[in-house]
Amino acid sequence: MSDQTIIITGGAGFIGSHVVRRFVTAYPDYTIINLDKLTYAGNLANLKDIEDAPNYKFVKGDICDTAFIESLFETYKPDAVIHLAAESHVDRSITNPLDFVMTNVVGTVTLLNVAKNAWKGAYDKHRFYHVSTDEVYGSLGAEGMFEETTAYDPHSPYSASKASSDHFVRAYYDTYGMDCVISNCSNNYGSHHFPEKLIPLSINNIKQNKPIPIYGKGENVRDWLFVEDHARAIDIIFHKAASGTTYNIGGHNEWTNIDLIHLLCAIMDQKLGREAGASAKLITYVTDRAGHDLRYAIDATKLQEELGWAPSLQFEEGLERTVDWYLANEDWLQNVTSGAYQQYYEHQYKR
Ligand code: NAD
Ligand code: DAU
Repeated sequence: MSDQTIIITGGAGFIGSHVVRRFVTAYPDYTIINLDKLTYAGNLANLKDIEDAPNYKFVKGDICDTAFIESLFETYKPDAVIHLAAESHVDRSITNPLDFVMTNVVGTVTLLNVAKNAWKGAYDKHRFYHVSTDEVYGSLGAEGMFEETTAYDPHSPYSASKASSDHFVRAYYDTYGMDCVISNCSNNYGSHHFPEKLIPLSINNIKQNKPIPIYGKGENVRDWLFVEDHARAIDIIFHKAASGTTYNIGGHNEWTNIDLIHLLCAIMDQKLGREAGASAKLITYVTDRAGHDLRYAIDATKLQEELGWAPSLQFEEGLERTVDWYLANEDWLQNVTSGAYQQYYEHQYKR
C-alpha cells in the first residue's frame, strides 16, 4: 500500500523513536501517527529532527483508555498499528508489577479490541504488528538458542506481561482472523536509550565517575543488537511477513555483562582522555536482580532466510557510536536524569 496511515504506539520511547524516524523518512507517502502517553520513558526530544515532517503527527494518550483509542481510530482511520508502547524495565516490574499488567496486558488487549471492531469485515486490509521480547522464552543455560518454536517460560513480571500480550495477539489472529504479526527481539542498544538500562546507565555513571553497579557476578549473558538494526527488521517484517507469523530478531552477539562493561570502560577511557583502566575501577558488584535470567541468545535464522535481514554492525563499532552520541548529547542526558530519575536511582541502588 503506497499511502497508508500507521499508528505507532510508544514512538517517543527508545526503540519506538527509531522506528518512527525510519518510517517517517523512508516512506514520505505514509502518514505516521505517534501515540504515546509520555511516561518517564517517553521523550519528544527523541524525535526533534523529524517533528515538523508533513507526514508525522504526535498524539498524547494512553493505550489503556478505550474511548480515547476509539476516537483515534475514528479520526485517523489507520490501516495498521505497530505496537511498541510498554513498561519495559525488568527492575521496575519487580517493584511495581501491576503497572506492567496494566500497560503491557490491558493496554495491548485494549488496542486489539478497538482494532478488531474498527477493522471488522476488512481484516485482510489491516495489520496489527506487536513488538515483543526474547525474555518471553525464559532463560538459557550455557548451550542453545531461542527459536520461534521455543516454549514460553517467562520469569519476571515484565516478561510475564509481555508473554501474556503475545498470547492475546495470537488469540485475536486465531479467533477473529485479524492480520497479526509478532517479533521477539534481544537486548537493544544505541542512542536515546533511557539510563535505567545497563549500557546507558553505565555510560552516564562512568562519565560522572560514579560506581558502575554490576548485579551478582556479572556472568549473565545478553545478546546485543544495534537499535537501528531492530528498526530495520521491524520495517521488513511489517511489509513482508505473512499474517500470523512470528520472527525472532537478534544480533548473534552474546556478551557477559562484565565483559561488556570492560569493553565500554576501555572505549570511555579513550574518549574521555583517561588513562587505560581508570573507568574499570568504578565497577562495583551489587546485590543480584531477583530471578535474574542467566542467558539470552536469539536464533534469527528464520528472519535471515525468509526475509533477508541481517545485523549490519559489529558490536565494537555500534558501542563506540553509542558512546559518541551520549557524549555529544549532554543536554538530553541531563534532562532525563533530573527529578524523578534521582528518586528511582536512590530506590534501586542505595538499598
Ligand atoms: P521504552 O520504555 O524506552 O519506551 C516505552 C514507550 O511507551 C515510552 O515512550 C512510554 O511513554 C510509552 N508508554 C508507556 N506506557 C504507555 C501507555 N499506557 N500508553 C501509551 N504509551 C505508553 O521502551 P523500549 O525499550 O523502547 O521498548 C519498546 C518495545 O520494545 C516494548 O514493547 C519492549 O517490550 C520491546 N522490546 C524492547 C527491547 C529493549 O532492549 N529495549 C528489546 C526487545 C523488545
Ligand atoms: O532481552 C530483551 C530485553 O532487554 C527487553 O525486553 C527489555 O525491555 C530490556 O530492558 C532488556 O532487559 P534486560 O533486563 O536484559 O536489560 P537491562 O539493561 O536492564 O540489563 C542487562 C543486564 O545487565 C542484565 O543481566 C541485568 C544487568 N544489570 C542491569 C542494570 C540496570 C546490571 O548488572 N546492573 C544494572 O544496573
